[in-house]
Amino acid sequence: MQRGALEIMPGPAEAARLCAARTAAALREALETRERVAVALSGGSTPKLLFAAWLQENLDWARIDLFQVDERGVPPGDPQNNADMIVSHLVEPASIPPGKFHRIESQRSPSEAALRYAELLRSRLGDQPRFDLILCGAGADAHTASLFPGDPLIEDRTGLVSSTWVSKLNQWRITLLPRVLLDAAHLIGLVAGADKAQAMARILDADSPLHLAPARVLRETLNHLSWFLDTAAAADLPPEIRA
Ligand code: 6PG
Repeated sequence: MQRGALEIMPGPAEAARLCAARTAAALREALETRERVAVALSGGSTPKLLFAAWLQENLDWARIDLFQVDERGVPPGDPQNNADMIVSHLVEPASIPPGKFHRIESQRSPSEAALRYAELLRSRLGDQPRFDLILCGAGADAHTASLFPGDPLIEDRTGLVSSTWVSKLNQWRITLLPRVLLDAAHLIGLVAGADKAQAMARILDADSPLHLAPARVLRETLNHLSWFLDTAAAADLPPEIRA
């Protein structure tokens, strides 16, 4: 199980800018040999910092197909809707044609939204969907995507997408499953803030149990894994990991 490359920057904006530069370089390299690339984006608030930095990178967005990592069980227009956040903070400011961003249809029932999203992935990326880059965050409880502590989906290594009830949030979620996350060519963890420090220490601790730190699942990837943290999120990492 790999730890992945670890970059620790003074603050959230610096971590996001470094993440933007490295991920833009990886996408440009992929576009040297392929006409199109596929990227999956997490929701929440941290991605907004990356999106702002990506807007300065002059990426060829017309050749980048955007997808979601996960969605809350709320319809478009709800303030919590991740797809709306991606549209307002990236798709619109980057003038990305709406057809290039493939939303999870959270206006449908959770199970139907998951089924249709899996069908979309298969139709666009084939039966073994392999993203060029997947952006993940981590919650203060060490969840990633919508894989929360104690969810048996953390152990799933065959499915593509599932709906899942998150009791602590009293909310349905629709999420990519570990197999899709782990198959990404470049897996990115962008995590900032003091409230994530304990979670990051658990995520990067080789001995912490997966069901208590689901974001640890990212370390199973055989491809490229990179963590971009600010000093606050890295505060509880032991010296040997920071080195
Ligand atoms: C979501 C995200 C989730 C996110 C973490 C961190 O729907 O909430 O996909 O996995 O990455 O919760 O969120 P913040 O960036 O807001 O801290």
